[in-house]
Amino acid sequence: MARKPMMAGNWKMNNAIGEAVVLTQEISNNWWKDWEDKVEVVICPPFVDLKPVKTVLEFDKTKIFVGAQNVYWEEAGAFTGEVSVPMIRECGCDYCIVGHSERRGLFGETNEDVNKKVRALLGGRLKPIVCVGESLAVRDEGTTNEYVCAQVKAAFAGVDAEDAAKCVVAYEPIWAIGTGRTATPEQAEEACAAIRAQLAVLFGEETAQAMRILYGGSMNPGNVDALVAEPDIDGGLIGGASLKCDSFIQLVKAVMQ
Ligand code: PGA
Repeated sequence: MARKPMMAGNWKMNNAIGEAVVLTQEISNNWWKDWEDKVEVVICPPFVDLKPVKTVLEFDKTKIFVGAQNVYWEEAGAFTGEVSVPMIRECGCDYCIVGHSERRGLFGETNEDVNKKVRALLGGRLKPIVCVGESLAVRDEGTTNEYVCAQVKAAFAGVDAEDAAKCVVAYEPIWAIGTGRTATPEQAEEACAAIRAQLAVLFGEETAQAMRILYGGSMNPGNVDALVAEPDIDGGLIGGASLKCDSFIQLVKAVMQ
């Protein structure tokens, strides 16, 4: 089954409002209308940039989607510092990254938290981009596939196939994120194929074949072609290379071929 590729830019904690507007405008200026049938592009800026980024894209009628980098599962209330699903939806988000390794590692997010966020997003008609990935220690032990499949299972607990079909999974080996050290296409494909097999166990073969699985971790214009040529890699979740218009657009073009 043909899956529409996706390139998602994860800006992390970069670009204040002025910079965000300038970068979005640059990306929008480089966008060709006929690309929208060939690729889904998502920009995931910090919360404060969501509305300004969306406004630029709406003004230009550029069919690029906006996603948040995190969300809280409660709708409203005494949760100081948190942001809810209805809030990010109101900012124009269609997507939200969940369970990024920086959130798991630096902010103590557990598999259970990830699952609550996934279900809250689906309940609020937003599409999660669920991140999984192993540390170097897990890879060296030779248990990468088991580890990432357990993360997938936990993230999707209580989710049915119809909702799962709306989700995207991003395989991001922690040792490859921001390090310049990319997984080889073979390593990335092996993990992504294992994830798809796990999704088939959970939701059936048809749903698993329809779901997109992205690779993330030092993806750049130099290594993208070999990665997206792999049968189970449907695009990328891009950190560093999404912060410059040129490299991001090169990645978008690469995944359309
Ligand atoms: P990177 O980040 O492309 O800078 O390695 C990827 C990510 O963390 O999503």
